[in-house]
Amino acid sequence: MREFDETSITQAVIGRLSECDDPRFKRVVTSLIGHLHDFVRDVDLTEPEWFAAIQFLTDVGNTCTDKRQEFILLSDTLGVSVLIITLNHPADQGIAESTVMGPFYREGASELPRGSNLAEGVKGEPTFYSGRVLDQDGRPLDNALLDIWSGDGEGNYDLQMGGDTKMKARGKIRTDAEGRYWFRSIRPTFYPVPTDGPVGRMLLKMGRHPYRPGHIHMIVSAPEHLPVTTHLFVAGSQYLDSDAVFGMKESLVAKFERHPPGIGPNGERMDTPFYTVNYDFRLGPDSKLATRGV
Ligand code: BEZ
Ligand code: FE
Repeated sequence: MREFDETSITQAVIGRLSECDDPRFKRVVTSLIGHLHDFVRDVDLTEPEWFAAIQFLTDVGNTCTDKRQEFILLSDTLGVSVLIITLNHPADQGIAESTVMGPFYREGASELPRGSNLAEGVKGEPTFYSGRVLDQDGRPLDNALLDIWSGDGEGNYDLQMGGDTKMKARGKIRTDAEGRYWFRSIRPTFYPVPTDGPVGRMLLKMGRHPYRPGHIHMIVSAPEHLPVTTHLFVAGSQYLDSDAVFGMKESLVAKFERHPPGIGPNGERMDTPFYTVNYDFRLGPDSKLATRGV
């Protein structure tokens, strides 16, 4: 057939994959073409609407820099990131749940002694974090690594602060022989995802707010275990019910207990109120890597 109507066009495009020798790629692209054509037919897409969509995606690409990934933000705000995470890391036997990585992770944070203050000189209410990293049977994992990052107490990440590129509110902490970790940082607050680009305009048009509830990020890993990219959410934070990127998981909500000025858990004199939070992470064995074919 040389000419196609509004239905036969779909099979015609899919048929052009007949010589494709990568079965997974073929399956994914075949499904994508089918859904995309169905979508166009479903909403009776007009030409101005399609050009507006192309302009939008062009703007998303043009907004990306080495410090900003607008495509990840688009995936996050459309719930695609969390959908993929949920399919690939199903909640399993008490193992710490995964959630979005977000655009503010930086490789190469310093490894610091347990008890270090990750947020030296960063605005925010002092908070002492502690807990254990355990295997799925509750046995402590020695030498597990927590790669931690957060914004300051006003919700700004170092990457958003401009000026110097020094890492702030970031660091790596290892567990001791009993699987324990502890460090000091700040109590994270809710904050908006970046709204000064095309994704911000999209949220506005959708009538959505851009806020995420207060959280601190970490990648928790240990030899022979599956690493988990996760958060701790501040119990009671605004926007837990409507996270702009759908990343909230009940199992990751932790109580941040407030204390009056006095002696902190590390014996330090605290002149302002401070918080403590305790949370244990369980990691699954990495034999699952083989069974999932990763
Ligand atoms: C974050 O938590 O850092 C984040 C996640 C997704 C989009 C924007 C920010
Ligand atoms: Fe964040």
